[in-house]
Parts: sequence; C-alpha cells; structure tokens
Amino acid sequence: MNLPTRNTPAPGPKLVIANWKMHGTHASNAQLIDTLLPGLQALAGVQVAICPPMPYLAQLAGLLGHTGISLGAQNISERTQGAFTGEVSGQMLADLGCGYALVGHSERRSLYGETDAQVAMKFEAALRAGLTPVLCLGETIHQRRAGNTNAVIGSQLRAVLEQVGMAQLARGVIAYEPVWAIGTGETASPAQAQAVHAHIRQLLAAQDAEAAARMRLLYGGSVKADNAAQLFAQQDIDGGLIGGASLDAEAFGAICRAARKPHLTGLAARSHRTAHN
Ligand code: PGA
Repeated sequence: MNLPTRNTPAPGPKLVIANWKMHGTHASNAQLIDTLLPGLQALAGVQVAICPPMPYLAQLAGLLGHTGISLGAQNISERTQGAFTGEVSGQMLADLGCGYALVGHSERRSLYGETDAQVAMKFEAALRAGLTPVLCLGETIHQRRAGNTNAVIGSQLRAVLEQVGMAQLARGVIAYEPVWAIGTGETASPAQAQAVHAHIRQLLAAQDAEAAARMRLLYGGSVKADNAAQLFAQQDIDGGLIGGASLDAEAFGAICRAARKPHLTGLAARSHRTAHN
C-alpha cells in the first residue's frame, strides 16, 4: 500500500489537546488556566484545546473566551435529544462553546462498555452538531504482544469508516492511544508510535490519499514534557492528546512549546519522501 502521493499544502499547526479526565474544581480550574494562559497565548504555530469535565465546560468557556484556545468535551451522546438520562448531546456541547469532542477514549470503551458501533455513532453525532470528533484508537498490551496491533486499530477505524465514509471521517481528528501507555508512565517509543501512525495513514490513504495526508493524527499515552518533542518530531504525528501532564501547568506549557518547534514533519516531509520514492 502506498503512502499519500499528492503534493498538497502542508497541514496546519500541530494540535495539542488536554484531557483533564475527572479532575478539577472551580477553584483549581481557574488557577490552572490562570497559570497556563500567559505562556499559551504567546505561542504561535500550535493549536491547543482543553477538555474539562462536563460540569466545568461553561466555566472554561468563560475562562478561555477569546484566547484562541479551544474547548472540547471528553464524551458525547450518540443521540440527538430525548429521554436519555445523564447524557449530553452534541448540540448542547456546541451550545456551550465546544469545538471538539473526544469519542471512543479507551476508558470509555473498557470501563463503560462503548462498542465500535457506538463510537461510530458518536463520531457521526459530533459531526452533526458541527463539532470536530477526536476518534481515539488503541490496542491493549495483550493485543500488542499477540502481534495484533494493526488488526485492532484497523477494525476500530473501519467501524467509523463504514458508518460515515471517508469524506466525513476526514473532518475529524484521530488520536492513537495505546491502552498500555495511558496513565501508566510507559510511553510508546517514538518509533513504535510512528509505525502505528503510518499504518493508520496508509489505511486512510487507501480511501483517499489527499485527505489522508491532511488528516491530523495525534499520539496520546504518557506524553510528558521530556518526551513530547521526540514524539512530535515523527513524520506522521501531528500533535498529542495529553492526560496526566495536562493538569500541571508547567508540564503542559512545555508540551505545547515542543509542538511548536519546527520539525521535518507533517505533509512536507510526507510529500518529500513520496516524491523521492
Ligand atoms: P495520559 O492520558 O497522558 O495520562 O497517559 C492520555 C489520555 O488518556 O488521553
């Protein structure tokens, strides 16, 4: 299978998304944003989004205001509206000022039983509401040891492709998050991450090479201040989804700065490589 071959413009800046998970209070959120903002606002060339817990979306919408930092949700209902106690619709998230919604985070899949089919519906629901879905894919350590990483990623991706098609899939972002690296302190090596990212891009390129080259593929799983630059320097890594380190203003600021540094990455490098193959 070939890598993308079209010589299209370089993709935009890297995207770094903070996933605060179930952490925070009004007071601690305000303090974290207060500490982060001066550094982040001065950062050109990187897009940043913050996904706080649902009850704090309105607070964060107020704090982020016109800073240029986007707001995202950690989850979204696959339904539009109705008798779905405890659920939050895409329309509500958009109404609160969200631009992004995570779908299929491994904690949602493993702890709350979200299936590939449900994740695909959530992806579609986000698009319907005008949000950018961030589709999380990842294998467990057992799947990796059994040599099934690419097969697992492929079937997670296919479920969404079959539901929405490539043109709609390309409106989202993909986050590769090996389950064994999430919250464990064990990061995929840059080479391991790059290999899976390249595989994902090849699967996408089989559908539409140009769209595949443009799609943003984020890496997530124990990204820290000291490993971010190496990960972000990989050709097919277009940013990061950051859990634990996003709760530490200094660490998250450093990760965002690492994403801004000029690398031989993204489409420029991809086009360069394919042009010389
Ligand atoms: P982590 O989490 O950075 O704490 O490993 C990443 C994620 O779950 O999105």
